Amino acid sequence: MMIYTLITFCMPQLSYIFRYMHFHLLITPTPLMAAKSKILVIGGTGHMGKFIVEASAKAGHETFALVREATLKNPTKANMINSFKKLGVKIVLGDLFDNESLVKVLKQVDVVISTVGLEQYDHQLHIISAIKQVTNVKIQRFFPAEFGMDADRVHAVEPEESAFGSKAKIRRAIEASGIPYTYVCCNFFAGRFLHTMLQPGATAPPRDQLMVFGDGNLKGIFNKEEDVATYTIRTVDDPRTLNKILYIKPPANIYSFNELVSLWEKKIGKTLEKVYVPEDKLLENIQEASAPNDAILSIGHSVFVKGDQTNFVIQPSFGLEASELYPDIKYTTVDEYLNQFV
Ligand SMILES: NC(=O)c1ccc[n+]([C@@H]2O[C@H](COP(=O)([O-])OP(=O)(O)OC[C@H]3O[C@@H](n4cnc5c(N)ncnc54)[C@H](OP(=O)(O)O)[C@@H]3O)[C@@H](O)[C@H]2O)c1
Repeated sequence: MMIYTLITFCMPQLSYIFRYMHFHLLITPTPLMAAKSKILVIGGTGHMGKFIVEASAKAGHETFALVREATLKNPTKANMINSFKKLGVKIVLGDLFDNESLVKVLKQVDVVISTVGLEQYDHQLHIISAIKQVTNVKIQRFFPAEFGMDADRVHAVEPEESAFGSKAKIRRAIEASGIPYTYVCCNFFAGRFLHTMLQPGATAPPRDQLMVFGDGNLKGIFNKEEDVATYTIRTVDDPRTLNKILYIKPPANIYSFNELVSLWEKKIGKTLEKVYVPEDKLLENIQEASAPNDAILSIGHSVFVKGDQTNFVIQPSFGLEASELYPDIKYTTVDEYLNQFV
């Protein structure tokens, strides 16, 4: 330091060179600063996919969305596609059933996130097959369409049993192929389940009467879709979640059914009539219900009667919790989320 000061004081020309070198060293990217992964989203125009595409582009990842030709022509999707384009997202024509389109786009990206829906879970085998064909470029990570509960740790009855079975089948195919992966288990989407409190047919939180699953004491976890997307994108380049399950279980979003109802009652200043439905009656109701109510009741049974979102401890050998990994991410709490409906 003394020598540096002496030289720079005595020789103005050298001083300039040293300062330039110092500045240059500070701003020049070193090989240690890895570039952000290029992300392909398959199913990006769906309910969850749009949040993932947006979060990816906003986080500075070069983002590709594989979109079917029919979707591009669909006027109800035009605003979404335009907003993607404004964010710099590259719209790529393709289809799960068009191997050539998959292989072509896979050559341009590092990470694949699938947000296809229930009908397409099994067809993700086409993505796995295409990733295996792209041998000159290594796909660093595949996120299959999970974004729910842990398919290997649920005790669901039909129709959800089959849906989880398909997700588990895709997990096994990924693991057998050796493709690096992360499974995101975010539990309930707030936008799908919190505002209805799992009441079949409801479009807003109930104000008079509601059905309580079981005794109402088991806990579920609700996360806003935007937060799920933020956590998912944050983990894309994080080696800690490679070949692991990322569970999104932020402490302020874990509620028993009874706690949830009493929070809502406090907000609206009213006591609701509660109809407690024991397991045997609930199983009967599931059998008798038609879609989509049978699925809602079946998920309610899995979570609030079997405890499938909270009845296991996350072990570092298989998973990590998102809000612990990324404490700087400010998530929306259940309490905050419900305020919009008061
Ligand atoms: N945790 C929860 O509460 C919860 C709730 C719902 C869903 N999820 C999970 O979230 C994930 C996404 O579900 P979602 O409900 O968001 O799905 P979705 O709305 O049904 O969207 C499916 C997407 O897949 C696209 N797609 C369909 N067939 C395709 C094909 N052949 N080739 C390429 N793309 C195709 C669709 O395109 P178009 O836009 O053209 O239709 C759409 O973009 C799933 O893993 C699901 O289990 C979780």
